Amino acid sequence: MMGELQTWADRYRSRGRYTPVGVAFHWIMAAVVIFQLGTGWWMQRYLVGPDKLAAYATHAQTGLTLLLLGLLRLLWRTIVPGPVNDADRPGFSAKIAHLTHGIFYALFTVLPLSGWAMWSAIRPAEPLYLAGLVPIPALPFHDLSRAWQFRVLDLAMDVHLAGVILLSVLVPAHMLAAIKHHLVDRDDVFEGMLPEMTDHHHHPEGPQHSPPPLADRPDEARG
Ligand code: HEM
Ligand code: HEM
Repeated sequence: MMGELQTWADRYRSRGRYTPVGVAFHWIMAAVVIFQLGTGWWMQRYLVGPDKLAAYATHAQTGLTLLLLGLLRLLWRTIVPGPVNDADRPGFSAKIAHLTHGIFYALFTVLPLSGWAMWSAIRPAEPLYLAGLVPIPALPFHDLSRAWQFRVLDLAMDVHLAGVILLSVLVPAHMLAAIKHHLVDRDDVFEGMLPEMTDHHHHPEGPQHSPPPLADRPDEARG
């Protein structure tokens, strides 16, 4: 099973590409992370009332979904690492790129956990639901004294904000780097993260643009 998975993954990695699973994780999470940065800032500008509470709940529940996605992605990435491509040439920028990716993975955990800690310290009336379905309990902060609850809230808020600032700097930097690879260096890095629309690269004899004549096909493929 693992062997088959690696063989399948190598079909992509050997051509400098991420697997379709890696690509799906990347673009789904990129969209959700940007959505999350938006709701995080906007929800604070709502006037106090039910709309504001609903905006906070959306933010929290989407954030917890990112925690789950991030952990699954990390697991996937340990089993199937990304390809070695032009972004991995030894040197300073490869180090910065790998560091950035590492920080992204760390933030996929630190941001939701600090958010969850904040949510739990303010003793919410409503439970949270993961992806709108699975109820998520508050962390056990209600047993703490009021003073300690406040300390937890304060610390979690600082951690959350620091993570948000780091993410807001690294995301545009990462995007600019990807665009530079594509437009300036004209290498394979950006393409390796795009979904592949056709399958013809896999054929051992090269691109196959039309089906082979009927007479050449094995019997079971005929009628
Ligand atoms: C990757 C996931 C997340 C991202 C990118 C994110 C982003 C943000 C941003 C941009 C803000 C506004 C800046 C700030 O006050 O810190 C914010 C605030 C907040 N987030 Fe998140 N968040 C994430 C996950 C979560 C989760 C899972 C929860 C709760 C379970 C949560 C709860 C909160 C709360 C309560 C605030 C308001 C803090 C305040 O009023 O100062 N966040 N978040
Ligand atoms: C919130 C937004 C984003 C986040 C959090 C993010 C995160 C990541 C992470 C963690 C990786 C490393 C994947 C791995 O090897 O396991 C990665 C790779 C990559 N990302 Fe993003 N990304 C975001 C947006 C974008 C955007 C908008 C672009 C394109 C403009 C982009 C282009 C790429 C490319 C080309 C790679 C492959 C780099 C390589 O092969 O070394 N990303 N991204």
